[in-house]
Amino acid sequence: MENEGKNRRDFLKFGAVGVGAALLVSACGNNQTANSQINTAPGNTDKPADKKTPDAKEVTAVEDLMREHGILRRALLVYSEAALRLRKNPASVAPEALRKTAELFRSFGEDYHEKKLEEAFLFPLIKQKAAAGAAAKYVDVLVVQHNKGREITDYILSVTNAAKIGANAPAFADLLAGFARMYEHHAAREDTIIFPAWKELLSSAEYDELNDKFEDIEHAQFGEDGFEDAVRQIGEIEASLNLSDISQFTAAPPPAAK
Ligand SMILES: [Fe+2]
Ligand SMILES: [Fe+2]
Repeated sequence: MENEGKNRRDFLKFGAVGVGAALLVSACGNNQTANSQINTAPGNTDKPADKKTPDAKEVTAVEDLMREHGILRRALLVYSEAALRLRKNPASVAPEALRKTAELFRSFGEDYHEKKLEEAFLFPLIKQKAAAGAAAKYVDVLVVQHNKGREITDYILSVTNAAKIGANAPAFADLLAGFARMYEHHAAREDTIIFPAWKELLSSAEYDELNDKFEDIEHAQFGEDGFEDAVRQIGEIEASLNLSDISQFTAAPPPAAK
């Protein structure tokens, strides 16, 4: 659809007032933002010659990172649900489901999302260019949490080869819950502080280039359908634990007013 995504937002912002207003914004000084808007405003024919027209349906770099968080959050929900069940009845949790979750978290989260994207592109730029900003203060602890997560994933992989989660189930439940808690906070700060700060540091042309670069990295790592495969894998894990139907998680109503 022509008006989807960024083009749609730009249309809503500039459609009524036209390109002239966009140029005025540019002249007022916010060149990076305004240039992006000019380049993608529907009907604008004054694009710089060296700038390709963004595909309205292209998955941009931050959208890519955030939907990867969606996969990882679904893995964390598996861990959280497993932790609840392990405390009630350890035999009810098949270790295989947790092993597959840890394998997905390793390949899609730790080896790709964290190592190939965040640690290679986002964190170094934020540390270098925004050293005095709020986002830079997060980078060190985010790296510590990546490393702690890898340590915990190693452990989950090592103990889920057995047929059952045995006598250590309560401690294992605490470990899964602790991992989920850490990474929920981690991903939420990245979504709201790190990703916007990183995008702000890039020019429109640099960001556009990185949209393609991230796609290339994903294809090199997983082939054509990395994200779709990850969606399928987490869906299968959820199904094996009867977590597919999200209506079971609709909250109970509040108590009746007195
Ligand atoms: Fe991260
Ligand atoms: Fe992340």
